[in-house]
Amino acid sequence: MSKLLIKNIKELVQVESTPKENVTGAEMKALPTIKDAWLAVEDGIIVDFGEMDEWGGITDWSDLEVIDASGQMVFPSFCDSHTHIVYAASREEEFVDRINGLTYEEIAKKGGGILNSAKKLQNTSEEDLFNDAWKRLEEIKKTGTGAVEIKSGYGLSVEGELKMLRVIKKLKEKSELTIKANFLGAHAIPTKYKQNRKGYIDLIINEMIPIIKSESLADYIDVFCETNYYTPEEAERVLQAGIAIGLIPKIHVNQFTSIGGIQVGIKNNALSVDHLEVMEEQDIQDLIKSDVMPTLLPSCSFFLGIPYAPARRLIDSGLPVCLATDFNPGSTPSGNMPFVLSLACINYKMTPEEVVNASTINASYAMGINKTHGSIAIGKKANLFITKEISSIAFIPYSFGSNFIKTIILNGKIAN
Ligand code: NIG
Ligand code: FE
Repeated sequence: MSKLLIKNIKELVQVESTPKENVTGAEMKALPTIKDAWLAVEDGIIVDFGEMDEWGGITDWSDLEVIDASGQMVFPSFCDSHTHIVYAASREEEFVDRINGLTYEEIAKKGGGILNSAKKLQNTSEEDLFNDAWKRLEEIKKTGTGAVEIKSGYGLSVEGELKMLRVIKKLKEKSELTIKANFLGAHAIPTKYKQNRKGYIDLIINEMIPIIKSESLADYIDVFCETNYYTPEEAERVLQAGIAIGLIPKIHVNQFTSIGGIQVGIKNNALSVDHLEVMEEQDIQDLIKSDVMPTLLPSCSFFLGIPYAPARRLIDSGLPVCLATDFNPGSTPSGNMPFVLSLACINYKMTPEEVVNASTINASYAMGINKTHGSIAIGKKANLFITKEISSIAFIPYSFGSNFIKTIILNGKIAN
């Protein structure tokens, strides 16, 4: 049995005695912590924690590793519930196009964007895709991510989508991070099907989904529901085909236009609706009546220079909010969760407590793993990080770009 004790913790953050599903609205301002704390882990699972003063002591010291965390804080790892980290090549030429005045939509229209990534992926081997994605996983691990959702969507052909999903499956098997796979075959309309959209959707439903089912290649199903991509009707057809084989829906909506995607997500019990840069009042009212997690991606707004989602309006209307990176080669070439927290504080005017809730407990909800991740609670997986000596929780989003993490613990073991 492997055992770990972290003692003298300056502040143990996001502790729960009775685990919650998520935190909502005004509750998000409260972040439960224990000062001067200890935490015990056995075989990768949190078994107990409390105040140093009330520590009953450990009875069996055999094989126990002890970390003295004086002056340091302990957090549950971030859950990054929205990424596209399997891709063939970076797209900095589009970054330069945008500097020179083109918009994301204009670049997509001239063959850039998602279709550009899809073209590059067709000629890239499964092995190369795996090795590049592996490096990205190692990178996000260093900035505190302990669980990550990874989407397909740069294949846009039967062969390409399955290749991506098989890479994600291999990453799942080999990585210390917790990984969930999301099938996003409906990410763009492939060039070949421009005049026959239904033909491509039929291909997703009749060719891809049955193989995904037989090889257990995905946990979720996603669609980019947006003007020039998939209509709400098309999105619903795809989501329902996924639901029929047991996939849970998540959906890209309201990045550039509000066209009814949120309502499709709600109607089909999506776990989350993601992006939400452009929100109508009706969208907010409909979300209030649902259990769907609104997921915001501030580093996408930062990188593309598009509006920031109205996070304050959502939270002040009583909704929960989740924060994720959207790590992908086109709209967010970064998987840095601490930077996302800083952007959310600065641009969304979320408080440090709100951004920690949004990236831990609420993010675990958006990944469907809130029973095992997202907080410090007995029985949850010991995916944590120990900070360097820092002055307060707010120091983390405040000191943007600096590395505040000292020790990473995944599955109860030191991972750096
Ligand atoms: O979430 N919005 C759609 N998909 C990605 C961008 C994909 C790309 O440009 O490669 C996103 O931002
Ligand atoms: Fe995305």
